[in-house]
Amino acid sequence: MCGITARIGRGDAVDELLTGLENLEYRGYDSAGVAIKNGHGLAVHKREGKIDQLKSRVEQSPPEGSMGIGHTRWSTHGPPTDANAHPHTDCTGSIAVVHNGIIENHEALKADLRERGHRFESDTDTEVIPHLLEEHVDRGLELDVAFRRMAEQLQGSYAIAAMTDEADAVYATRQGSPLVLGIDDDCHYLASDVPAFLEFTDRVVYLEDGDVVTVTDEGYEIVDSQGDPLDREVRTVDWVAEDAEKGRYDHFMRKEISEQPTALAQTIEGRIDASEEGEPIVTDGSEAASRGDSVSTPGADGVSLEEFPPGTFADVSAIQFVACGTSYHAALYGQQLLARRGVSAQTFRAGEYAMSPAPVDDDTLVIGVTQSGETADTLESLRRAAEGGARTLALTNVVGSTAARECDDAMFIRAGPEIGVAATKTFSSQVASLGLLAERLARDVADSESEDSRQLLAELSTLPETVQRVLDETQAMEVVDRYRAMDSYFFIGRGVAHPVAMEGALKFKEITYEHAEGFAAGQLKHGPLALVTPNTPVFAVFTGRHTDKTLSNVREVQARGAPVIGVVSEDNREVIDTVDAALTIPEAHPDVAAVLANVQLQLVAYHVADYLDRPIDKPRNLAKSVTVE
Ligand code: F6R
Repeated sequence: MCGITARIGRGDAVDELLTGLENLEYRGYDSAGVAIKNGHGLAVHKREGKIDQLKSRVEQSPPEGSMGIGHTRWSTHGPPTDANAHPHTDCTGSIAVVHNGIIENHEALKADLRERGHRFESDTDTEVIPHLLEEHVDRGLELDVAFRRMAEQLQGSYAIAAMTDEADAVYATRQGSPLVLGIDDDCHYLASDVPAFLEFTDRVVYLEDGDVVTVTDEGYEIVDSQGDPLDREVRTVDWVAEDAEKGRYDHFMRKEISEQPTALAQTIEGRIDASEEGEPIVTDGSEAASRGDSVSTPGADGVSLEEFPPGTFADVSAIQFVACGTSYHAALYGQQLLARRGVSAQTFRAGEYAMSPAPVDDDTLVIGVTQSGETADTLESLRRAAEGGARTLALTNVVGSTAARECDDAMFIRAGPEIGVAATKTFSSQVASLGLLAERLARDVADSESEDSRQLLAELSTLPETVQRVLDETQAMEVVDRYRAMDSYFFIGRGVAHPVAMEGALKFKEITYEHAEGFAAGQLKHGPLALVTPNTPVFAVFTGRHTDKTLSNVREVQARGAPVIGVVSEDNREVIDTVDAALTIPEAHPDVAAVLANVQLQLVAYHVADYLDRPIDKPRNLAKSVTVE
């Protein structure tokens, strides 16, 4: 759960390495370091704390050199200290290594190395790597061969970059952790993720498990574990550097909440069929609109998924979703959409599924919903499902991610990079994508078409402008002013409002550090009602279905003194008149209303966290990409 970066080419390396680390800080932020090859050897600077602290230290005596490696850490072995920060070096300080992942057999390797006289300075698993390399080099192996031999000794998941004080090259490999090569005319980069070097180049090679790459200022060579050359496609990424910058916002999370109209326009672009009778609708505020494109109402064919033409899923007889956190809530939404179209599906928390997978066969489709495409629990679940013979599909934001590459099929949600640890725009884009995918599945699996789904598709096509309205007209600040200093916050909903309630609570607790819980509204009276007091505001999500029943639950909690904030259509007078405060959304199809309601809850969480002065983009103890089980 760390970020690694490397840079080799013309000019000084240190600034670009630090920029790369800042762009990767979302992957880990408890310590950081760089190693630069200067005229005298390797200059290693590392320290506990955020990149800014490393920067201040480095700026005191900036190391000169055109080649270096860097690391931002999220602790897995050993607390965040200067000693545990990467890069780690061998006994002589002439080999430096950065690593993301876990070396599962590090204890055995360390014990053997100790017996042979090696001394260790840190508690990390990583430190065995430079010492193993040192042994191979001492035995006379060329560095590239030594690097491959070292990699053969490791068990676990890793992306590693290494350099020495002698060779003008960086060596890197990956196994289960992401690693991308960036190619510029006179410079090359390695990183855990593209935003690290996006402002320098957009030409990338997504390395695969087992690839070993040697990068010099003149070029690169990718080989397999035997040293045989491999050919990997060079791709151009269409993300722009500003996507990974904060712009005029105080926090990435706020920026990403505001970007939802654009993200959604990208998600649906070209994926909803035009109807003969339907009028094209230009989506205000979206990127498509600014380009003068239009999004059209759906025709008889409904969805137009390039990757999944009609009939793609005709053989599927069972559907399972596996996901974690916010993506799990999106998956629950997808399950409900399918159920209403007569297709049954099950949704599993990936961490549990990986322990005891549900039965699958050749006709089972297992859909991994994962923004990053790197979540270890989700990857493990997908692998277990594939072992059982299931067909796997990754619904992800990251082209080239492990999930996208390992699954039989991939559908990209096209939300653009998300830097804030709390998922916002990617949830909306996941849900919109699931709306489209559910449509294809319903038609293929159950031969099901309905007027309701046509209406849903029509409203999905205008979702960018509807979300823009919610952003422009939100009452979140007023609600936060009234209810920001309470004991606990509860979120309730029925049907698709239930995953939204769970997501609202997750967002709230992870960035405010206040206690929050989401419940199926009908479950309140089976236990949680005991927690309700005048100091526990309840956010009740209304989507247009089950209104009377949710309203009964609202009255139950009001009777116990709890203030209720309704997230509800602006046209629903009955609810607005009953609740104590309202966050209103435009009148919409219930499945679209769920997305709109969620945007309001994102804003509430954001403003409370901002009021409490929390580190919103990097909440304590959390990381964006959870690559350990
Ligand atoms: C919460 C959040 C996490 C992620 C979860 C899965 O805001 O972001 O709960 O949703 O770690 O991550 P992905 O979707 O990358 O698999």
